[in-house]
Amino acid sequence: MNNKNIPILPLTEPADYLEALDLLAELGGSPRTIPEETIRTNFALCRQQGHAFFQARDGRKLVGIINIFPMINALSLTTWRINGLVVDKAYRKAGIGRHLMQACENHARAQGGKTMLLGVLTDNEQANTFYETIGYKVSARQFSKSLA
Ligand SMILES: CC(C)(COP(=O)(O)OP(=O)(O)OC[C@H]1O[C@@H](n2cnc3c(N)ncnc32)[C@H](O)[C@@H]1OP(=O)(O)O)[C@@H](O)C(=O)NCCC(=O)NCCS
Repeated sequence: MNNKNIPILPLTEPADYLEALDLLAELGGSPRTIPEETIRTNFALCRQQGHAFFQARDGRKLVGIINIFPMINALSLTTWRINGLVVDKAYRKAGIGRHLMQACENHARAQGGKTMLLGVLTDNEQANTFYETIGYKVSARQFSKSLA
């Protein structure tokens, strides 16, 4: 348990995911502007493709979220990717982020996962420090290109 005794729970209901939009806004992409129906459809598709979500709740208040999914390819099913980790500003530095990551690591390990991957913006200093503190190392550079 973290310093605030906040439980980490599986998030399986689209309604719970919709509650996370304000938290997820911190990662960019203006999720509040995406139609609710689109989010529900995408959430269901993610679940079909093996995504798992975990949430941290202080009573009824959602204070953290994370998503993990298998990087499926024809050669290997042992690499998983973390995505969409956010902890409410008022609840940071209490161990909740670490426990959300551990929930994902346990989930992947239980399904034969051997390696976790994640991407973080170079200038996101708090997240870079966080991942290094919990044992992650820089292993690659990530390239991206707009298709617009
Ligand atoms: C990154 C984030 C998820 C960390 O969540 P958190 O609940 O505050 O992290 P924890 O309390 O579990 O921290 C775990 C360790 O990382 C360290 N850490 C976390 N944030 C830190 C910061 N801003 N500066 C320095 N160290 C930090 C903690 O000190 C802690 O170390 P300790 O256990 O030795 O004390 C949170 O800051 C956040 O939501 N940021 C905005 C969204 C974001 O950037 N997400 C990642 C996108 S890739």
